[in-house]
Amino acid sequence: MKIEILVSAKEALNKDFKGKNVVVIDVLRATTVMITALKNGAEKIYPFKEIKEAIEKKEELKDGLLAGERKGLKIEGFDFGNSPLEFTEKKIKGKVICMTTSNGTRAIENSQSGDNIYIASYINVSSVVEKVLKNEKDLIIVCAGTEDEFSLDDSLCAGIIANKILEKRSVLMDDFTISLQNLAKYSKNIKEVLKDSKHYSYLKKIGYESDLDYCLTLDCCDIVPEYKNKEIKGEY
Ligand code: MLT
Repeated sequence: MKIEILVSAKEALNKDFKGKNVVVIDVLRATTVMITALKNGAEKIYPFKEIKEAIEKKEELKDGLLAGERKGLKIEGFDFGNSPLEFTEKKIKGKVICMTTSNGTRAIENSQSGDNIYIASYINVSSVVEKVLKNEKDLIIVCAGTEDEFSLDDSLCAGIIANKILEKRSVLMDDFTISLQNLAKYSKNIKEVLKDSKHYSYLKKIGYESDLDYCLTLDCCDIVPEYKNKEIKGEY
């Protein structure tokens, strides 16, 4: 098995994912939100790049909910922002969510040519590894990044996935993937590694410190959302 890591949604744009397993990561916070919402009973999530597309889908669905952010903040007129702690069972059980975020939903759309597209974050990392080990396909891990640049929160999570796979299979990796796998292997405390990183610091500054603690919790969920036919549904 070969593992490759892409550092931003933009890198995924012209990549051919055919024949591959793909794992998309936007730890802070889009993929953490998706995993949480589906774990708490949301029926499905439609991810969109643009605000306009999410609104049009909601209008078509009649009883869908709108979720998402720009610059980390809730979009005007939307039902939810992009804080995973908002997506409680009481609010979203049985609901369909139309979602748009700055980087995460874009990374997912850009990866759509993959054979299997799984949604990952720290909160479901071990279950994602089990899923991708179910077949022999090569794996491309797409980090959403921030504004088309490397983001340490996503890349460390990608390294953890690579490291966990390496513990179970023989794997071919390029030097960049090896560097993230080693970072993961020798990082004992995720929060300590990320505490001065750009998007982590930004979310803290705008008041989302409790989101950060939740987003960095390893393996508190065993659901692995899958993106297929333009929708994301939860799988165990
Ligand atoms: C994104 O998609 O860029 C993020 O989820 C932004 C955020 O932290 O809300």
